[in-house]
Amino acid sequence: MNDYGITWKHLASLILAVGATALVIEQAPAGDEAIFPMPAGKTYVNECGSCHTAFAPGLLPARSWRRMMAELANHFGEDASLDEPQHLAILKDLESLAADGPQANLRMRRISAAIPANAAPQRIIETGYFKYMHDEVPRHIWQRKKIGTPGNCIACHIRANEGRYGQGEVRIPPP
Ligand code: HEC
Ligand code: HEC
Repeated sequence: MNDYGITWKHLASLILAVGATALVIEQAPAGDEAIFPMPAGKTYVNECGSCHTAFAPGLLPARSWRRMMAELANHFGEDASLDEPQHLAILKDLESLAADGPQANLRMRRISAAIPANAAPQRIIETGYFKYMHDEVPRHIWQRKKIGTPGNCIACHIRANEGRYGQGEVRIPPP
């Protein structure tokens, strides 16, 4: 791939995104839609979606979330501490909906399998899965004002706060 152009893989995705059915390249296997389960209720989106996208728990393994929740007072340079009841409720949801959690779907299990057992990554954007899924998004797109960082999922995945990352719900903001 190059840094400037839109490649065929990318084009195919975009065409699929607007609903064409003729192209079958890059289609996910049945039952493998990019939909991640989200915690019930509003607590998670309100508390963990106030500064950035409310990231789907299924994007990281439980050990990553446990570490992150234990270090909330110094969360990427911010104090994101929670009251104890909220902390416990969110931790429980993150653990049960994590990539290696009891309800993990095929996609989540693949995310988890790609992370070494002795690592507890804190950045979704540094996981092999994220990089693979976005390897054809050119650098200049990430730098657009309305995006800023690849971690700003919701800038492009308009229903990210509902755990929905499917091709049909991607809208890349114009420059
Ligand atoms: C006070 C603001 C704030 C709150 C509240 C907050 N975060 Fe963050 N979070 C940040 C900042 C700042 C970053 C780093 C952003 C960057 O550098 O791209 C970050 C990054 C992250 C990342 C890494 C994203 C990546 O780059 O891959 C995850 C995962 C995350 N937060 C989860 C959570 C969870 C879970 C909660 C709720 C318990 C939470 N955050 C609450 C400010 C916050
Ligand atoms: C610049 C816009 C942009 C941002 C920001 C972005 N993505 Fe994506 N994402 C894309 C594009 C384009 C694709 C490829 C479309 C396709 O083939 O599904 C994609 C694909 C995906 C897929 C696979 C979808 C599928 O159908 O298999 C997932 C999951 C995903 N992104 C998650 C994330 C997460 C999580 C974040 C934030 C941490 C994020 N994305 C940030 C543009 C973006």
